[in-house]
Amino acid sequence: AKARHFKWEVEYMYGAPDCLEHVVMGINGQFPGPTIKAQAGDTVVVHLTNKLHTEGVVIHWHGIRQLGTPWADGTASISQCAINPGETFVYRFTVDKAGTYFYHGHYGMQRSAGLYGLLIVDVEEGKKEPFQYDGEFNLLLSDWWHKGVHEQEVDLSANPMRWIGEPQSLLINGRGQYNCSLAAAHNGNGSGLPECKFRGNERCAPNILHVMPNKTYRLRVASTTALASLNLAIGNHKMLMVEADGNYLEPFWVNDFDIYSGETYSVVFRTDQNPANNYWISVGVRGREPRTPQALAILHYQTTTASKLPTLAPPKTPLWNDYARSKAFSNKILALSGSPKPPLINHRRIFLLNTQNRIDGYTKWAINNVSLTLPPTPYLGAIKHGFSNAFDQKSPPDTFLSTYDIMKPPSNPNSTYGNGVYMLKFNTTIDVILQNANALNANVSEIHPWHLHGHDFWVMGYGEGKFSKKNIGKFNLKNPPLRNTAVIFPYGWTALRFVTDNPGVWAFHCHIEPHLHMGMGVVFAEGVHLVGNIPNEALSCGLTGKMLIGKPHK
Ligand code: C2O
Ligand code: CU
Repeated sequence: AKARHFKWEVEYMYGAPDCLEHVVMGINGQFPGPTIKAQAGDTVVVHLTNKLHTEGVVIHWHGIRQLGTPWADGTASISQCAINPGETFVYRFTVDKAGTYFYHGHYGMQRSAGLYGLLIVDVEEGKKEPFQYDGEFNLLLSDWWHKGVHEQEVDLSANPMRWIGEPQSLLINGRGQYNCSLAAAHNGNGSGLPECKFRGNERCAPNILHVMPNKTYRLRVASTTALASLNLAIGNHKMLMVEADGNYLEPFWVNDFDIYSGETYSVVFRTDQNPANNYWISVGVRGREPRTPQALAILHYQTTTASKLPTLAPPKTPLWNDYARSKAFSNKILALSGSPKPPLINHRRIFLLNTQNRIDGYTKWAINNVSLTLPPTPYLGAIKHGFSNAFDQKSPPDTFLSTYDIMKPPSNPNSTYGNGVYMLKFNTTIDVILQNANALNANVSEIHPWHLHGHDFWVMGYGEGKFSKKNIGKFNLKNPPLRNTAVIFPYGWTALRFVTDNPGVWAFHCHIEPHLHMGMGVVFAEGVHLVGNIPNEALSCGLTGKMLIGKPHK
């Protein structure tokens, strides 16, 4: 195993993600940030310097469990203090498991601003993946607004709330096309947009994947969208799903697949189509009425010229509200045989009701009627050093009223702010039942992809309506997939199971950035007394900053 060192500077800079010039967050002048490549067992060391002039920054390593290094999780107010302008924080952690991961800002809405990149972990030297391929490509998917994130933050926190709307563009590896289409020959693929004209080398020119005929390729796909649920297809090519969130799947063939924010997948496909043509890779919106054109990339058979546009129309994205199709796909995702199995019994079951609410007229999201607001002192240091006045000492509720009607808008929409913690007993098995409900408007229930830090969980099952005891008997105990992100469908529930074997404080939240911003998350803590020495830089704010830094530790 090696140590891989990186020196990064985060800054605002001009970019043109969808051909229009806008401010983006960059790392070392790059947007998206550099791709980290490592091997399982390696130590990644990132010296992160904040070159922003007026705001803090942190970076979260999404999908990396941070075993033994909870202070390197990169969540402001949870695992560390935000890094101040001009300051440097060293993230040092091991990447213990091969897989497809990514990283992103976890302070304010910096992920929406473009602070993200890929983190690819290969298998250890001499080890093999349970599938074969001749080459690989990475696609990092995101969505993009022309309005800057500071305005978006103000909009979302306004009274009345001003909704940010649908993204202007979808980006593949940071590239999209606004107000023009690569597929104009096909009527802009339904959009009717005129043809994009490229002279070459534009920063928003399409991604081209160069392949040879009759080979097998691995495509790693990660979604760090702020809002959009996506679907990806490659014209004429079937794909074999093999990996999700850094865990192997029982392989299955698809023509297209859904990917929610916070998820990653690997697929393998064979270049067995007519080598005289090129083919579109299309990415479109699902789960919300699409107002954003598909993003396109080109699969280029090197037996023809790269500039030859595909003759076939880009694959159509399945209907946005065909939830039966989405559920059928989610239910096909199962662990490869031989994967770790869940414990058969759980010690605690936590029900989390997802509702949209109001607090003093402001629109919020709440979990069991508590809307999360992060405290000034990060939880990890506060709990480890026993600062009991750093956050609400009352634990948030483990359940919600059994009479709550999830099919209707809340009868009393008023909610409360809170920053309490679910204190989980170390080395126990926890079930979480995520329960979806109607939002504030009648007949609206949204998709929420929930992401857990510090862990993978088993997805024990999905269901419709309100969860009931009899659903427990239908949990998949045999081959549930291990993931770090799982979606709840409109008016449905999702059951998860995990073991509290990683001392630290871990965020669990909806990965839709505006939803998190409006309070849609909870905080779990486990075995914090077992956490080693937290670096001073992670403690230098709030009560830990005042009481510990500059004073001798005891
Ligand atoms: Cu990728 Cu807390 O998120
Ligand atoms: Cu959400």
